[in-house]
Amino acid sequence: MERAATPRGDGRPAAGPAELSAVAGLPLEAFRAEHVADRIERALAAEDVATTAELAALLRRDPRARERFRRSVAVSHSGLFRDPEQFEALEHRVLPRLLERAERPRVWSAGCANGLELWSLAIVLGRLGALEHSQLLGTDLLEENLAVARAGVYDVVEITPALRSRARWARHDLVNDPPPAGRWDLIMCRNVAIYLCPHAKAGVHRRLATALAPGGVLMLGRSERLGDPAALGLQRIERHVYERPR
Ligand SMILES: C[S@@+](CC[C@H](N)C(=O)[O-])C[C@H]1O[C@@H](n2cnc3c(N)ncnc32)[C@H](O)[C@@H]1O
Repeated sequence: MERAATPRGDGRPAAGPAELSAVAGLPLEAFRAEHVADRIERALAAEDVATTAELAALLRRDPRARERFRRSVAVSHSGLFRDPEQFEALEHRVLPRLLERAERPRVWSAGCANGLELWSLAIVLGRLGALEHSQLLGTDLLEENLAVARAGVYDVVEITPALRSRARWARHDLVNDPPPAGRWDLIMCRNVAIYLCPHAKAGVHRRLATALAPGGVLMLGRSERLGDPAALGLQRIERHVYERPR
């Protein structure tokens, strides 16, 4: 994080990661250092400020700039049926197998961003006739993302009130909080851990593995894999998909 630690000649000391974490209200130390450095560089350019000290001062006084920075560091984008082949796998192979065992499946979109991942999953569960009996939870680090998810209004789609009433949304930090209570039949945690430092990422994967019900399934993003699934008590059943044996 070179720039964060380097004064830029205006005589003011640079703001370090700890100060930026505090003003942004984000655990910057949990993210990969190169990712944070990149997001700081982008913020300096986008906000037209010269130093990290100025950036910190801006984030302190301007809630909109603070939100922009938080959303940028946390990489808050998603999409309806993002990576469609993963939803194909869910609809045609993973969920039919899971639904044979779980009558009231508990599904959790961990790091749900604007909620479109959970809404996509809800549509698939509906197609399989399982939505009525499912419990749906979406969690994210950023409350501002959850506000979008709860509203369910997007450029591409508007979620009906009936569907909206089926999902719960909660703020949850995958790095620092214990998993939400109970065991989960399906956890989707896609494109979240890729931005985390190795230590935080390993801890997240460990906690997600323990949160699975017997026979439960963890789906990671299409560029992600578990280094040693067996060490977490899991077995790989598809690319990026791991099951806790019964
Ligand atoms: C790139 S989005 C992924 C959204 C969705 N899972 C998908 O793949 O379309 C990453 C999300 O992870 C969230 N996130 C980052 N760190 C997190 C943490 N420690 N705990 C919970 N969510 C986190 C971010 O706020 C962001 O909404």
